Amino acid sequence: MTVAASLPRSGTAPTATMGEQIPFDVDHLRADFPILGREVEGRPLVYLDSANTSHKPRCVVEAMEDHYLHHNANVARAMHALGGEATAAFEGGRQQIADFIGAERPEEVIFTKNASEALNLCAHTLGSRVGPGDEIVISVMEHHSNIVPWQLLAERTGATLRWFDVNEDGRLDLVGAASEGLINERTKIVSITYVSNVLGTVNPVSEIVSLAHAVGATVVVDASQAVPQLPVDVTLLGADLVAFTGHKMVGPTGIGVLWGRYDLLAELPPFLGGGEMIEVVTMAGSTFATPPHRFEAGTPPIAQAIGLGTAAGYLSAIGMDAIAAHEQEITAYALDGLKTVPGLRILGPREPVDRGGAVSFTLPDVHPHDVSQLLDSRGIAVRGGHHCARPLHHRFGVQSSTRASFYLYTTKAEIDALVDGLGYTQRFFGGGR
Ligand SMILES: Cc1ncc(COP(=O)(O)O)c(C=O)c1O
Repeated sequence: MTVAASLPRSGTAPTATMGEQIPFDVDHLRADFPILGREVEGRPLVYLDSANTSHKPRCVVEAMEDHYLHHNANVARAMHALGGEATAAFEGGRQQIADFIGAERPEEVIFTKNASEALNLCAHTLGSRVGPGDEIVISVMEHHSNIVPWQLLAERTGATLRWFDVNEDGRLDLVGAASEGLINERTKIVSITYVSNVLGTVNPVSEIVSLAHAVGATVVVDASQAVPQLPVDVTLLGADLVAFTGHKMVGPTGIGVLWGRYDLLAELPPFLGGGEMIEVVTMAGSTFATPPHRFEAGTPPIAQAIGLGTAAGYLSAIGMDAIAAHEQEITAYALDGLKTVPGLRILGPREPVDRGGAVSFTLPDVHPHDVSQLLDSRGIAVRGGHHCARPLHHRFGVQSSTRASFYLYTTKAEIDALVDGLGYTQRFFGGGR
């Protein structure tokens, strides 16, 4: 039986929360992902681009299909049976996400379009808390989604943007940050990634939260690469706001999440205006709904919330500890394999400690776009480019890199195919062995 087959069928509300854990077996769970059975260029697909977007198990697609085929209606406004069913399923998805990330209550979970929108929501609504002379701290390893909204906020308010640097091993330079007083009484916001999408580094978020809270700063965490691969408990983490995206955690595209401490959310102003986020609208002005609806203007991503709730149930059924252990094992195997490729330079930690399943690297004299094209000709999907992290690539003195990223369905045979493919790439360009 596949993992998905063991999940309860979804009715009006997704019911994929599991009491019972399913033993981790990569071959077994691959059967839940039909796309992994396809071929590319006459060879079995080797999908090593999950940090970009993950594949979806059949149960996620079926939950969304079931909604559209049998329960479709708008939520929170249609006073009929279908409206009630759709609303229950949508709010059921919110509850499943709250349970998955250890939120104290579902009202702390805001649905957005993606992580980028969640981070823009943070920068916009926290804007009234910063002014000229204040400081916002981010890091050089951020995705552009956690850089640009803060640059825009700094421009708007006259605040200064300051940066954590990284050391050569791709770890945050906490010693340098302490000696230059990076976090100080002028710091109003610290926004930091939990897991780097390029280096794979897992940052000591709780330590940074303590430093930031000691000076009264608000902490935003970009957990887009963390929630899919690590057990994340937002309450234990201690941050104020945590953003992530659905499509990297076996969920659908078109939905992201912002979790926030309820008392903070209750103080923040709206982000976008429109239907459903209001309390009363008159010609003289408007008052606003309580969280989370204050931050969800217009028709929300209904089917996506149902799919995302099912995705969280699927990951919980397998167990986030088991998924993290599998990623650790696969990443260790990949790092060993990649170290055998002549001249290959790994950006980020070379050891599988405090490290997620994304490994970026460069090959001497071969452009990352050529690497990905040649690998693609052998059915191997990786990403070549700057991975939306140009400042980080600049920091390491390169324009771009090739990134292989792994997930719960990645096998050691796929890593072997990658290492072989890189040998082929080097021979093609007249280098290597
Ligand atoms: C660390 C990190 N933050 C933010 C994002 C943005 O996610 P989305 O494109 O779904 O908004 C990504 C996506 O690659 C990411 O890896």
